[in-house]
Amino acid sequence: PVPVLAIDGPSASGKGTVAARVAAALGWHYLDSGSLYRLVALAAMRAGVPLDDERGVAALAAALPASFEDGRVLLSGEDVTDGIRSEACSVGASKVAVLAAVRAALFDRQRDYRAAPGLVAEGRDMGSVVFPDAGIKVFLTASAEARAERRYKQLIEKGSAANMESLLKDLQERDARDAARPVAPLLKLPDAVLLDTTERNVEQAVAFVLDLVRA
Ligand code: CDP
Repeated sequence: PVPVLAIDGPSASGKGTVAARVAAALGWHYLDSGSLYRLVALAAMRAGVPLDDERGVAALAAALPASFEDGRVLLSGEDVTDGIRSEACSVGASKVAVLAAVRAALFDRQRDYRAAPGLVAEGRDMGSVVFPDAGIKVFLTASAEARAERRYKQLIEKGSAANMESLLKDLQERDARDAARPVAPLLKLPDAVLLDTTERNVEQAVAFVLDLVRA
């Protein structure tokens, strides 16, 4: 079977950057599952479908006209790469992500990413729900303080306003919601390798994961 490397972890842990670099280094396909939830939120907001309308949002998710080309994210052909990173889409994604019918509607689409020579899949439930048969599972995390600091730096670099205290509070609340939600809660699986990046930079984290795959 085609190998799958599942990388799950909390918000701002750096798992997106690490997963993308590992996929590039291996020449494997890459699935950023969070972007699918963000796209569903954007599509629903544009269509005027309330984000808690489970059947309506799931119908949109099942027919999502999304594609990924050269690192760009397209919705009905429109480049929404930056758009889906907005605060509205982040909040919207976390709302539609609690709907079981939405998760079910995205299941097959995510499974379809598994193709030779391999797949790096990143998200919250890659190892638990979508690819429970993944050969390697990584739980990539960092302390809430370290994650808040990284997000702070990103925002400052973009020229946006940022407040450390409110970022930290926001992350901790989001962690609690992700862990407590009834569908696909974020958890460290017994068969996942823990990668704590609090004291590791991106290069070190990438090297750690590559060693696991090549071992
Ligand atoms: O890391 P961050 O929360 O900033 O963004 P993301 O990874 O793009 O995820 C966006 C939202 O989708 C979050 O609220 C996640 O809880 C949710 N999500 C999910 O439920 N399942 C996944 N496999 C990936 C993301």
